[in-house]
Amino acid sequence: MSGYLRADRRINSALNLTILPSGRTVQVIGGTRLLVAITDAGESVIDECGGRSRCGSCHVVVRFGWRSLSKIRTKERERLTQLNGANMLSRLACQAMLGAHDVTVELMPH
Ligand code: FES
Repeated sequence: MSGYLRADRRINSALNLTILPSGRTVQVIGGTRLLVAITDAGESVIDECGGRSRCGSCHVVVRFGWRSLSKIRTKERERLTQLNGANMLSRLACQAMLGAHDVTVELMPH
């Protein structure tokens, strides 16, 4: 799994994940999938396709800590380019893995 993260990102270290708009902050272990971390925090994210990068319902905007997330793979990038409201700070929570540094994400309204 470490090959999935940037080479300079350690996994298995704790980081703070802040989720907007609620402002809830939770501690998460690096290497955790962003979708899992958000739902474990008690926040609601829709995952219509079961995390297969097909629906885009798990779209979030990264407000802080972009570089702590895993790289965007081709399938995720292709899906994001088709999403209304997506921008350069957008990620699919089902595809992004947390690294070693604090991250703030904003959930998109549905
Ligand atoms: S759950 Fe469908 S794209 Fe993430």
